[in-house]
Amino acid sequence: MKFFVDTADVAEIKELAATGLLDGVTTNPSLVAKAGRDFKEIVKEICAVVPGPVSAEVAATDYAGMMLEAEVLRKIAKNVAIKVPLTLDGLKACKALTGDGTMVNVTLCFSANQALLAAKAGATFVSPFIGRLDDIGLNGMDVIREIRTIYDNYPDLSTDILAASIRTVNHVKEAALIGADVATIPPSILKALVKHPLTDAGLVTFVNDWKKTGQAIV
Ligand code: E4P
Repeated sequence: MKFFVDTADVAEIKELAATGLLDGVTTNPSLVAKAGRDFKEIVKEICAVVPGPVSAEVAATDYAGMMLEAEVLRKIAKNVAIKVPLTLDGLKACKALTGDGTMVNVTLCFSANQALLAAKAGATFVSPFIGRLDDIGLNGMDVIREIRTIYDNYPDLSTDILAASIRTVNHVKEAALIGADVATIPPSILKALVKHPLTDAGLVTFVNDWKKTGQAIV
C-alpha cells in the first residue's frame, strides 16, 4: 500500500518525507485555505520535496474552466496529479487529461458506481471519502470494499483506489486489509501509526538493561 499525506503544510510534508515513508501528497481547497499561502507556490514546493504524485485540485466546476486550470497546474511540475470532482464535467476533464498523459485524481467519490465511472474515464486515482461517509452514519469502508471487488472483476480498469478522508489508524488498517492501493493520511494519523505502548515500554527496558552492560557499540 502506498502512503500519501493529506495536507498543504509544506513544513509537515518535509518532516514526513525525511522518513522515506511518503509516496505522494494530496491537497484540497480546504487544506490550502488552512495553509493560508499561495496555492501554486505550495504545489511547486511540495513537488520539489516529494517525487511521487502531488494532487492539486481545480477550483472550477465546469469542463472548460477545469481544463484551463489544469493547464496551469500541470505545468508546475511533472509529478502534479490534477484533482477533479466526481461530476460529469469532472469525468470529461479526467478523460481528456489522462488521454494527454496527465495523472488525474477523481475526488469526492462516495459510491462504488461513481468509482466505476471514474475508472471508465481513465482516472489514475479515485478518492472514496471514508470519514465523511462514516460521519453521516454510513460505513465508508463498505464503499472501499465494493470498489475493490468491482475493479478486480474488470482487470482492464487500471485506476488506483486512494482511500481518503481517513480519520483513524483503524481506517488505514481496514483499507489495507481490503486492498486499497493508496491511503492519503493526515499527518497526525500517519505519526500515530507507529505508536504502540508495548514498543515504548519494551524500549525503556532495553535502554536500561543496555546501560547495565557498561558497553558501547561505537
Ligand atoms: C482527499 O484527497 C481529501 O483531501 C481528504 O482526504 C478529505 O478528508 P476530510 O474528509 O477529512 O476533509
